Amino acid sequence: MTGKTTFTMIKPTAVKKGYIGPIMAKIAEGGFRVVAMKMVHLTLEQAKKFYEIHKERPFYGELTGFMSSGPIVAAILEKENAVEAYRNYIGATNPAEAEAGTIRAEYGTDLGMNAVHGSDSDENAIIEGNFFFSDLEKF
Ligand code: RTP
Ligand code: MG
Repeated sequence: MTGKTTFTMIKPTAVKKGYIGPIMAKIAEGGFRVVAMKMVHLTLEQAKKFYEIHKERPFYGELTGFMSSGPIVAAILEKENAVEAYRNYIGATNPAEAEAGTIRAEYGTDLGMNAVHGSDSDENAIIEGNFFFSDLEKF
């Protein structure tokens, strides 16, 4: 069975460029309901904890440094088959390879600064959502 929720972050560069509004509008347009949302500036330690699953990857230092370089917007989104639907909607990890019309194609600049994060499994969607939000903050 596939889950109804996924977790996303609008990454620091996209926030700095003023893309919170356009990206949230696009998320709504895609039929995703906002269950929880907040703006937060992660410390390096918090970013390292969030991305712990990537700690052996060569880009771990770069990724966690970038994700703690400025405020991000974290959100839980709801839709049927949310994880897969949202990953299709945001497009490929590298914005240069992302299909036209996807969030990463429109708002991403390169592999690291690819505008948004999207959970890769139902299990991780729950873990990631719970990293940022208590039950009282989910609607
Ligand atoms: P995300 O987790 O952000 O939704 O992205 P993803 O599943 O498409 O890609 P993933 O493999 O989970 O990588 C997480 C983020 O790390 C950055 N990255 N940099 N320099 C590199 O080779 C490299 N590869 C990945 C990207 O920002 C990616 O979103
Ligand atoms: Mg990922």
